[in-house]
Amino acid sequence: MEFSTQTTASLHQLKTAALAIGIFADGALSPAAETIDRASNGAVSAALKTEFKGKAGSHLALHNLPGVSAVRVILIGLGNQESYTAAAHTKAEQAFAKYCVGANLSEGTSTLAAIDCPDSSLRARARSAACAAGVSVYRYSATLSKDKEKDGAPKLKKFTVWIPRTQATQVQNGLREGRAIANGMNLTRELGDLPPNVCTPTYLGATAKKLAKEFKSLKAEVLNAKQIEALKMGSFLSVARGSYEPPAFIVLRHTPATGKPASKGDKAPIVLVGKGITFDAGGISLKPAANMDEMKYDMCGAASVLGTLRAVAELELGREVIGLIPACENLPSGRANKPGDVVTSMSGQTIEILNTDAEGRLVLCDALTYAERFKPAAVIDIATLTGACVVALGHVNTGLFSKSDELADSLLKAGREANDTAWRMPLEDAYQEQLHSNFADMANIGGMPGGSVTAACFLSRFTKNYPWAHLDIAGTAWRSGKDKGASGRPVPLLVHYLLAQAG
Ligand code: BES
Ligand code: MN
Ligand code: ZN
Repeated sequence: MEFSTQTTASLHQLKTAALAIGIFADGALSPAAETIDRASNGAVSAALKTEFKGKAGSHLALHNLPGVSAVRVILIGLGNQESYTAAAHTKAEQAFAKYCVGANLSEGTSTLAAIDCPDSSLRARARSAACAAGVSVYRYSATLSKDKEKDGAPKLKKFTVWIPRTQATQVQNGLREGRAIANGMNLTRELGDLPPNVCTPTYLGATAKKLAKEFKSLKAEVLNAKQIEALKMGSFLSVARGSYEPPAFIVLRHTPATGKPASKGDKAPIVLVGKGITFDAGGISLKPAANMDEMKYDMCGAASVLGTLRAVAELELGREVIGLIPACENLPSGRANKPGDVVTSMSGQTIEILNTDAEGRLVLCDALTYAERFKPAAVIDIATLTGACVVALGHVNTGLFSKSDELADSLLKAGREANDTAWRMPLEDAYQEQLHSNFADMANIGGMPGGSVTAACFLSRFTKNYPWAHLDIAGTAWRSGKDKGASGRPVPLLVHYLLAQAG
């Protein structure tokens, strides 16, 4: 899809397949709505008197208005002006993108114009509009038979944002950022949606390699079982051992092209660590059969790291970002972990495995130790870590755990801006007791109470040497039910955070 800005024509002279106009519930016309209303001899205000009330999420298509060059004008309901937020604004953009895809407006340009939004800059508006448009064309098709594939994939040729001439650069930057986020999200969604017999640890490694081929700022390294063993990642390997599928430890590195060699003044890198369990059957502590297929999504942390690095590379971000992915399956077998086993992590700390289904923390802890070598400014791990987090926060907010107020606040802010929100959870030492073991330095589970918190406490024991945050995306990385599939979260949050850090 092509993203562009339109600055020359007056709104009613804009030749486009669909022109979106935001309408508030109080019926007051925005300047853009007024332009169209005047040009069309009151067609907009006539619609407002009768069938269109500007309810949030609603829309009305008006075809062939006299005096208006657009083939259709789509009135998009914005709800109440007093309670209007950036989140409501994003919803409106998504509604328009969905309309364009649903109506199959492949013949021309779709234009989003003048959806007014308080407390949000033109650049942010363009960013979220382009992102909404870019994500709306995603359809899973990799394992569908040919005919279905053809029906399934919608196309939007061109997406334009109409703006006053003076702020064109801002809007162009926003469009570019939104497109990169959408491309990153769509990669993350595709990886999450792929079946576990296709999306294996090896496949994730190949995806990293492919990205490195496509973007010159990216370098990929994929370590095999032997190399992982040489690093003494005994905890990660104990999980991998239960499966025939070979594990992979992926290092994907974005280095900004500065044209000069790295110097002392360069900022330390930001490291993203993604849980890459390509299927989680639970191991010997086997999960129940119902909905077990959904555990193919247990690599969505890894997928969001790949998606984020794709976006970072496309944007040529001026900050070093390193993605680390411990990838393997968690299956029961004669070589699998058993409850009661004690393993030694790369950090030297020993772990008593009381439940083999708490495997995410076992693979992450070694990756978190590996992260130390980069002397990072911050490490953020992203993981579908606990069912308890879904109980606590549902499918709305990602669970955020950090001892650093500064890092936590930056991530919360990025989530709000991106409309991909997180909620801060506690991480006090008082919860650490629950991880007590008589036979090792710690147990890998802390019992029922505060399950997402004790999981984070476990990880905290491997992150003493740098500022660290943990994102539990068990509830937000995918949707169940009719819209079953990966959501692409928290790529928007992460890219917004990294854009802010790059300055
Ligand atoms: N991958 C799961 C967590 C999960 C559960 C993600 C539901 C998405 C939806 C994780 O590996 C797991 O099995 N966690 C256990 C931990 C428990 C054994 C302490 C859980 O949440 O039940
Ligand atoms: Mn598990
Ligand atoms: Zn898991």
